[in-house]
Amino acid sequence: MKRNSVGKLAVSAFVTVWVIGSSMAVRAQETKTRTASDAVFRGYCAVCHNAGENWKKAGPSLQGLFRRKQLVTGKPVNEGSVEELILEGGPRKMPGFRYTLSPEQVKELIRFLQTI
Ligand code: HEC
Repeated sequence: MKRNSVGKLAVSAFVTVWVIGSSMAVRAQETKTRTASDAVFRGYCAVCHNAGENWKKAGPSLQGLFRRKQLVTGKPVNEGSVEELILEGGPRKMPGFRYTLSPEQVKELIRFLQTI
C-alpha cells in the first residue's frame, strides 16, 4: 500500500515536471523565432515602419497588417501578396528587398508581421 502511493507520487511528479518542462521549451522556441524575425524587422524595415507605436514614419504602421482587408496596392492581405510587396517594393516610395533579404528572412518577417 505504502509503496504503491510512493509510486503514484513519483509518476505524478514526473508528469508535472514533464508538462512544465515542455511548455517552457515551447515558449523558449517562440521567443527565439520572435527575436530572430524582430531583428530582421528592426534592421531593414523599422526605419520606415512602426510595428506598434502610432507616430508616423515614412511608411504606414504595419501593426495589424494581417487583419486588414487590403494592401496599399489594392491586393488582399495574405502571405503571397505581402511577400511580393517586400520583394518588389511598394507602389510609391518603398524599396524592394529582392537582393537584400534571403527567402528565409522574408519568411521570418512575414511570420513576425502576423504576430503584431
Ligand atoms: C525607405 C522606407 C521603407 C522601408 C525601408 C520599408 N518600407 Fe515598407 N513601405 C514604405 C512606404 C512609403 C509604403 C507605402 C507604399 C509606398 O509608398 O510604396 C510601404 C508599404 C509597406 C507595406 C504595405 C502596407 C499596407 O498598408 O498596405 C508593407 C507590408 C511593407 N511596406 C513592409 C515592409 C517590410 C517588411 C520592410 C522591411 C523589409 C519594409 N516595408 C521596408 C516604406 C518603406
